[in-house]
Amino acid sequence: MSARLSAAPPPSVRVRAPGKVNLALRVGPVGDDGYHPLATVFQAVSLYEEVTATQVPPGAGISLTVSGPQSEAVPTDETNLAWRAAALLADRTGLAADVALHITKGVPVAGGMAGGSADAAAALVACDALWDAGVPRTELVEMAAELGADVPFSLLGHTAVGTGRGDLLTPAMTRGEFHWCFGTQRTGLSTPSVFRRFDELAGPSTGVVTPEDDTDIMHALRAGDPVALGKALHNDLEAPALDLRPELAEVLEVATEAGALGVVVSGSGPTVAALGRSRQHALALGAAWTAADVVDSIWCATGPAPGTQVVTSVARQ
Ligand code: C5P
Repeated sequence: MSARLSAAPPPSVRVRAPGKVNLALRVGPVGDDGYHPLATVFQAVSLYEEVTATQVPPGAGISLTVSGPQSEAVPTDETNLAWRAAALLADRTGLAADVALHITKGVPVAGGMAGGSADAAAALVACDALWDAGVPRTELVEMAAELGADVPFSLLGHTAVGTGRGDLLTPAMTRGEFHWCFGTQRTGLSTPSVFRRFDELAGPSTGVVTPEDDTDIMHALRAGDPVALGKALHNDLEAPALDLRPELAEVLEVATEAGALGVVVSGSGPTVAALGRSRQHALALGAAWTAADVVDSIWCATGPAPGTQVVTSVARQ
């Protein structure tokens, strides 16, 4: 009898959260808090991080393991955003920070697609469910924003306009599916260093950024028009990313020559996003990159994709 009881799996919750591409990213001058005001349009794509939170004995603390593509590049200590998310949730709810976290990577690492932010969003939702904390959605969103500027969007998913640090979100209307191919590089780019280079290149400025500059994108999304969307893609961080990685220019060029509807550096890079006419065409864009030997790997996906959600939950037996 006791052998059968001990064979029962411990309670666990598996949650998935999407990566993203910025369809537009406009960056204002750096503020006193070290952050830049943004006007951005996020689209979640069908590349997912999965976080499984498993119950451990009281006092065991937080532990973390990682598997999947490029997982060796991901820290497994308290610097990992998923770990920090679990610790923050425990702190705010007064619950014990006891959980074994496992991340299965599905979003490129340090690529400007918010894989780390997706881990944080998934860990918040997974621990909230495992610990039966019942934290209201609005408070989860606040904790998400504390963990990182892109974390609230990973909770929300779909397509949304982001202002503030990119964490104040308004859902956007879209029609249909958009077909993307992402080309990654072997070595990532650090987000703060790309923002710093942006400051160096931009010089002192008082410019204000507003989402009103992106009406073309909003029209294209509402019409489900990939040709118009491709033409309207815009990223202020593309110039600094190219300055730090001049070889990215060729990645943009190859996809453009292969007939991409639009090509843009994703977020702070170095991943490049190419928009295709169809799933097949997106695959062909990836094949062109592979043939030209300008990317480390290709990842095809569709957007918009749903936000963070529970996939499975194993209850106490
Ligand atoms: O919020 P998160 O930790 O993802 O941001 C990483 C870094 O990127 C920040 O420390 C800051 O240097 C830069 N950043 C910024 N302005 C933003 C978002 C991020 O300067 N709106």
